[in-house]
Amino acid sequence: MTAAVPLAIVVALAENGVIGRDNALPWRLRTDLRRFRDLTWGKPMIMGRRCWDAIGRPLPGRETVLMTRSRGVSPMGAHVASSWEEAKALASRLAAGMGSEEIAVVGGAEIYRLALPETDRLHLTRVHDETPGDVLFPAYDAGSFRETFRERHEAGEADEHAFTFIDLVRR
Ligand SMILES: NC(=O)c1ccc[n+]([C@@H]2O[C@H](COP(=O)([O-])OP(=O)(O)OC[C@H]3O[C@@H](n4cnc5c(N)ncnc54)[C@H](OP(=O)(O)O)[C@@H]3O)[C@@H](O)[C@H]2O)c1
Repeated sequence: MTAAVPLAIVVALAENGVIGRDNALPWRLRTDLRRFRDLTWGKPMIMGRRCWDAIGRPLPGRETVLMTRSRGVSPMGAHVASSWEEAKALASRLAAGMGSEEIAVVGGAEIYRLALPETDRLHLTRVHDETPGDVLFPAYDAGSFRETFRERHEAGEADEHAFTFIDLVRR
């Protein structure tokens, strides 16, 4: 079943597929954090409980749908969903209220795995490094998507690695 509102995955991944280490982002990329803010601003975001723990607070200008199987959890500043279908339904209602035409799916790996078969867009940041880590972006069928945007950035004071922004849309 596809969501009533289109899904867009937002993820930064290293050349080896790593997205996290010790429940944190394994790099410092300020330019990518700005892009994350721009891509998610004014939208509902679906995220997993470990990702929520890693961020540690609700992000301004967005609504968070937090996925957890724990019952009775109601963290300040998040809407709790206990299944993928519930998360999509909740995020769709929030999108309508916010005037957003998209739901952002912002990880981690467990949530990306749920969203990948249904996502309409992928906003990738390909980090040009073989970063050690313990969480990988799930495998997906790259042939189902076509590239619409690509922009390379070099490492610098704000960004510890070079990286490329890549947008993909479902064919
Ligand atoms: N590079 C990036 O762009 C990026 C983005 C996001 C996150 N990350 C990184 O990814 C790592 C976290 O990813 P992760 O895969 O370990 O965890 P996660 O996907 O953030 O969260 C997993 C949790 O989500 C809940 N969950 C998963 N499937 C569910 C379902 N079907 N129904 C209800 N709840 C469900 C469970 O919470 P409960 O255990 O509470 O039941 C599960 O333990 C961190 O290192 C983080 O920094 C990286």
